[in-house]
Amino acid sequence: MKAPRPKKRYVCQLCGSASPRWAGQCADCGEWNSLVEDAAGVVTPFSARHDLRGGGRRIELVGLDAEAALPERIGTGIAELDRAIGGGLVAGSAMLIGGDPGIGKSTLLLQAAARVAARGFEVVYVSGEEAADQVRLRARRLGLGSAPLRLAAATSVRDILTTLQGDSYPPLRSRTDGAAGAAGNCPHVPRPPALVVVDSIQTMYSDLIEGAPGTVSQVRASAHELIRFAKESGAALVLVGHVTKDGAIAGPRVLEHMVDTVLSFEGERSHQYRILRATKNRYGGTDEIGVFAMGDEGLAEVANPSALFLTDRGEAVPGAVVFPALEGTRPVLVEIQALTVRLASGATPRRAAVGWDSGRLAMILAVLEARCGLSFSTAEVYLNVAGGYRVTDPAADLAVAAALVSALAERPVAPETVAFGEVALSGELRPVAHAGLRLKEAAKLGFERALVPAAVVGERGGMRVSGFRTLGQLVDHVLGR
Ligand code: TYD
Ligand code: MG
Repeated sequence: MKAPRPKKRYVCQLCGSASPRWAGQCADCGEWNSLVEDAAGVVTPFSARHDLRGGGRRIELVGLDAEAALPERIGTGIAELDRAIGGGLVAGSAMLIGGDPGIGKSTLLLQAAARVAARGFEVVYVSGEEAADQVRLRARRLGLGSAPLRLAAATSVRDILTTLQGDSYPPLRSRTDGAAGAAGNCPHVPRPPALVVVDSIQTMYSDLIEGAPGTVSQVRASAHELIRFAKESGAALVLVGHVTKDGAIAGPRVLEHMVDTVLSFEGERSHQYRILRATKNRYGGTDEIGVFAMGDEGLAEVANPSALFLTDRGEAVPGAVVFPALEGTRPVLVEIQALTVRLASGATPRRAAVGWDSGRLAMILAVLEARCGLSFSTAEVYLNVAGGYRVTDPAADLAVAAALVSALAERPVAPETVAFGEVALSGELRPVAHAGLRLKEAAKLGFERALVPAAVVGERGGMRVSGFRTLGQLVDHVLGR
């Protein structure tokens, strides 16, 4: 077969016009002897459509060592929130915050927005869920009634962007004259907002797309337009996202890919405490948490959460073991509770975990069966982390195992004991990070003994520390063998 001949083209060095044949005079500008053969193939409409290797603008390529400006951050004035997101809201970034209904997302964002506005930044809070009056009443109840915040109840992304984009804003309308404080009589504001809160993305509607609000395509299209606005204008955008029953943010998973930061607001409505955790952060780490307590005046910050999730510890009960978790740089002590119920019939026993990964629970049970000869196969197993706390720290394995063994044998673990360490499938115990810090905090809170992997024993931190090489040794200890 004949190989295709590379297409030739001739480009006028003066005016840039291209022609397939050489000529002495450029047909476009009339210059003589200006056509020079160009090696690149002719860009025909066909080839342009089918080949991305030409026809674009050249982009600038830079080295890693080129100047990099640190992102501009706006502190929210809520230290626990700033801590969770790595130091403040990043201008031009998009953040998604998810959490169960009623957990306090709107409250937290209203408090943060008011603080940012009070510091002189332009802040817009768009509520698609509640009427403006409802938000205003809440703000007043939280003592934020005079914050110069711009509030709107809207769901049309086109309306919102039209409002935000203009170089001046319509004057604030306040129904109760004078009550809206500093912003109440503010005429046009000729600057782009520093912070835009959209509560929630599932209520937003883009007329570019068919479908009801909350559908996958609507959520994606609305988020895309809002995020594009944030990137172009330099505003920090915060989107509230509903979560589904299993904890994922409803709507497309792709929403999590579109934003720079994903936060989850956790806790149980029946408990007072709330934890703000970053699960994705392009501008910082994901290991620090923010801790809040929900009260009559909204969310209060909890600067020292280490003893927060410990229940009153009286008599030692079987199945309860305290685990010193580490959240970023802060230790948080939590009680792990296990319950096993022997089944008489041959029914399949249930396994349930609240506040811990159920896959990890299955793994610990398997290791206890396979390496330590304990049988859970005819027992229902329930595991609970007290106080509505969710443990993500892998060091919890050892405390969970101790709780399970203690529950199965109905033998309490000695009181004032903490346990931590990672369990390998082989049954060996692995040391974990910051053992010294965990021990020190436990000692501070009055704990006296610690069950840890053998490798940790060096770090005493003022405690009676028992080190174990294998899970089998720990089981023997708990069973008093
Ligand atoms: P909200 O912020 O509306 O939750 P979300 O936006 O995540 O759905 O919080 C609502 C709950 O918080 C509600 O059940 C009442 C409670 N709450 C308080 O206990 N104290 C307060 O000061 C506020 C504003 C709310
Ligand atoms: Mg809400």
